[in-house]
Amino acid sequence: MAQIIDGKKISAEIRKEIAEEVKAMKAEGINPGLAVIIVGENPASQVYVRNKGKACEEVGIYSEIIAMPEETTEEALLAKIAELNERKEISGILVQLPLPKHINEASVIAAISPDKDVDAFSEVNVGKIMIGNHRFLPCTPAGVMELITRSGISIEGKNAVVIGRSNIVGKPQAMLLLHANATVTVCHSRTKNLAEVCRTADILVVAIGKADFVTADMVKPGAVVIDVGMNRKANGKLTGDVDYAGVSEVAGYITPVPGGVGPMTITMLLKNTLTAAREQNI
Ligand code: GUN
Repeated sequence: MAQIIDGKKISAEIRKEIAEEVKAMKAEGINPGLAVIIVGENPASQVYVRNKGKACEEVGIYSEIIAMPEETTEEALLAKIAELNERKEISGILVQLPLPKHINEASVIAAISPDKDVDAFSEVNVGKIMIGNHRFLPCTPAGVMELITRSGISIEGKNAVVIGRSNIVGKPQAMLLLHANATVTVCHSRTKNLAEVCRTADILVVAIGKADFVTADMVKPGAVVIDVGMNRKANGKLTGDVDYAGVSEVAGYITPVPGGVGPMTITMLLKNTLTAAREQNI
């Protein structure tokens, strides 16, 4: 049976460290602040945004949640971002995705000052991650790296397979694993012999957005399986991209959904907000 990697527990440990750091920063006169913009009423996004606000409160970071109506124009959103770029008490800005269809996501990301881009989505920050000279960590991939390393698992020289090539998870995840000296393969919807490739993985990170996609026959015995998926079943229950029951019989380590990667993403966002506040106060 696989050992469970407890994301809730690891996340709580890191948040304790962050709360201590916030205290120390405030003593130095640095006050980190995060602005989160949500446009429209996507219920999942509303939950994520609420959780981001709560997490800030828990560690002592000032936060503002800015809820804008679905019919907000791109110009109005860009004007709001421009205002937040200028405000001293806001160290980090996050625009919750997805945005309504009439708003161009790339233009919005480009409008956020790279110094305040705590999601690390802007071209400058993505470039820095690629080079291995990051300022902000990509939140979900960085959370995955923490789960692995804090479980005492070494990455160097391992075969890592990432399923999914999104800008938010798959691509930056591959970069972080590569920087940690893994041999990295990225799989996607057009990959041939996907199961065979997966079976070569010592570390398998799954971010494809399909419930129960990875089954036990695709996993090497003893492998580390990290499930980034968040899918809603017909009964409303949250489930990952990995068939948890089957794969736990084969894997060495596995993350549950919920309670695996999810809590780590917000924790890494808090870390980035501190980084931003420090840089802006130099
Ligand atoms: N929507 C889903 N994941 C994310 C994320 O990491 N950041 C933002 N801004 N929106 C998201």
